[in-house]
Amino acid sequence: TTRTVAVIVGSLRKESFNRKIAHALAAVAPSTLKFEIVEIGDLPFYNQDLEGGEITPPAAWTAFRKQVKAADAVLFVTPEYNRSVPAALKNAIDVGSRPYGQSAWSGKPCGVISSSIGAVGGFGANHHLRQSLVFLDMPVLQQPEAYIGAADKLFGADGKLNNEGTASFLKKYADAFAAWVETNAKG
Ligand code: FNR
Repeated sequence: TTRTVAVIVGSLRKESFNRKIAHALAAVAPSTLKFEIVEIGDLPFYNQDLEGGEITPPAAWTAFRKQVKAADAVLFVTPEYNRSVPAALKNAIDVGSRPYGQSAWSGKPCGVISSSIGAVGGFGANHHLRQSLVFLDMPVLQQPEAYIGAADKLFGADGKLNNEGTASFLKKYADAFAAWVETNAKG
């Protein structure tokens, strides 16, 4: 069965290593998974005053929620900012979680990949994100864990992955993620 995966990249940077990792993973994943990056950079900050009752919410929120709802699964690929989740990613999570009772995230199988230019591989961001995912009722792939360090050393000038170890790890991750999605997807 073909499964669609909404990929949420936690960095807004054009040359983001996390974005490159998302592309590298999609390239080696089983062909049953169809990845689509859902952009989060233009989402206005979540503000409860902007929706509810007769108020029409920002169009960017509505479009984002629709894209997430349409996907079978979600893959988060994020840097760590100050040992936590980048604000843009947290905002996207908050936007997708509302209005109350209509969360776009609910029940969707997901995975978390964190990556950093440092050695710790975004562990702090990875696990802060998992805290929200528990509340959002998203089954998260547990193993393999993905903390990718030294992200600035993994890509050639063409933007392509040139590290064998990381390539085979991403393949392993993608295979486990595909199986996880198949087990947990609704319908
Ligand atoms: C960082 N960076 C960083 N790295 C890390 O390992 N732990 C951290 O807590 C932080 N904190 C942090 C805060 C802010 C505001 C910035 C801009 C950066 C460095 C980070 O790993 C690096 O910039 C990556 O390149 C970001 O990922 P992208 O944008 O390449 O995907």
